[in-house]
Amino acid sequence: MAREAPTAVTRPEAPPEGSPEAPPVAALNFGQVLGALSHALDLTEGQPKGHCVRSCWIGMRIARQMGLDEARIADLYYTLLLKDLGCSSNAARICQLYLADDQPFKHAFKTVDGSRRGALAFVLRHTGPGADLRRRLGALARVLRQSDTIVAELIETRCQQGAQIAGMMGFSAAVCAGIQALDEHWDGGGRPAGLRGREIPLFSRIALAAQVIDVFHTGAGREAAMSEIAARAGRWFDPEVARAALACGRGAALWAELEGPELARRVFVAEPSRAGRAFDEDGLDDVVHAFARVIDAKSPFTHGHSARVALYTDLICTELGYAPEARRWMRRAALMHDIGKLGVSNRILDKPARLTDAEFDVIRRHPAMGEEILAQVDQFRPMARLAGAHHERLDGKGYPRGLRAPELSRDVRVLTVSDIFDALTAERPYRAATPLRKTYEIMDAMVGSAIDPECYAALKRAVAAAEVPGFA
Ligand SMILES: [Fe+2]
Ligand SMILES: [Fe+2]
Repeated sequence: MAREAPTAVTRPEAPPEGSPEAPPVAALNFGQVLGALSHALDLTEGQPKGHCVRSCWIGMRIARQMGLDEARIADLYYTLLLKDLGCSSNAARICQLYLADDQPFKHAFKTVDGSRRGALAFVLRHTGPGADLRRRLGALARVLRQSDTIVAELIETRCQQGAQIAGMMGFSAAVCAGIQALDEHWDGGGRPAGLRGREIPLFSRIALAAQVIDVFHTGAGREAAMSEIAARAGRWFDPEVARAALACGRGAALWAELEGPELARRVFVAEPSRAGRAFDEDGLDDVVHAFARVIDAKSPFTHGHSARVALYTDLICTELGYAPEARRWMRRAALMHDIGKLGVSNRILDKPARLTDAEFDVIRRHPAMGEEILAQVDQFRPMARLAGAHHERLDGKGYPRGLRAPELSRDVRVLTVSDIFDALTAERPYRAATPLRKTYEIMDAMVGSAIDPECYAALKRAVAAAEVPGFA
């Protein structure tokens, strides 16, 4: 609990007035919502911000060069934007197996050329970079002995989880299949199924080429990107896709678009119409629930955390008399509150020992990272503010800004109580769940210093009255 527990005790001042905001969902651009949230996927993959958005633009250009019809382009658009949906699900396992930070590991993995020699060099360079010699050699021996099985497991987990989450959002089977087969290679040497040639969905073939172009373009420039496409055509890439990609890369237009300040807006404007499905309140809830799955899959320590915080938040809001629409936005904010944790290495998130000051500094950045991601969508600004302040305390000793009671809205106080309650009562890999009575003893001592008395009392009443799983 050293990561969450506060200590000092002072009375809070009255919270600011004002009811939770309920922005109109109808005005939301679905592509913009997914594009903003895709930045959380970029963080998880260790890619420069905008990787998914740029990959989307590149893939759409390739598809148009190939003459794909508009109906298929619509599904391709979402496949490209959400290709990394499963990325958080293998991060903890990468840290555990390779004794490495998952983000630089994943970033570098996207540049491996697929040859045996390249794979070996990658493993030697990225296994246990900061570990002592004995642990490093042990990890290397394990990884090299089982390298095929390990890589297959990591990719399979990622692909299946990504496809499943896309299904949760209501995307078509074609989008799900496109995400599932992202790492398959034209020559049958890819994963998870070793599909070959046209057995691989076209969307996956285009997305793989688009992804490699962006990784090499941002890392080493346009010539490097094009020579990777040419060199891997017929091995990794469908020759027809590679030809179209090379045609798109000739001249300066594509590169100017990718490097231009307007790219994100152009991608959002290019969002194809979603046949038969408007972006409504339920659609937004689906997206938010799906991203909560991505967040919670990042670490075994936080399995189900976002969903439970949303449940406790809803119970407190009901007790406090929030209107249904405001409760709905509060549930969404609770589901998204830890989205910034996708930018924190699992080496820190899953560390079984006490964190160093430097590691805790990284943890302290997650609210601001979450706020930045959510604030990209105008209608998400209230949620962004809540995500940015959920570790603040009434006495000003919280983080990241050290805000004090008058600056903390009732909404954020609700969220903080829910978050701390779940941090205590959830079972963790390294300890059992704290029993309810003991949880209340700990939280009683935080009243006035870290948590708001009114919100906390509402939680206690709600837990006593409701059939909360585990506390009935
Ligand atoms: Fe948090
Ligand atoms: Fe949390």
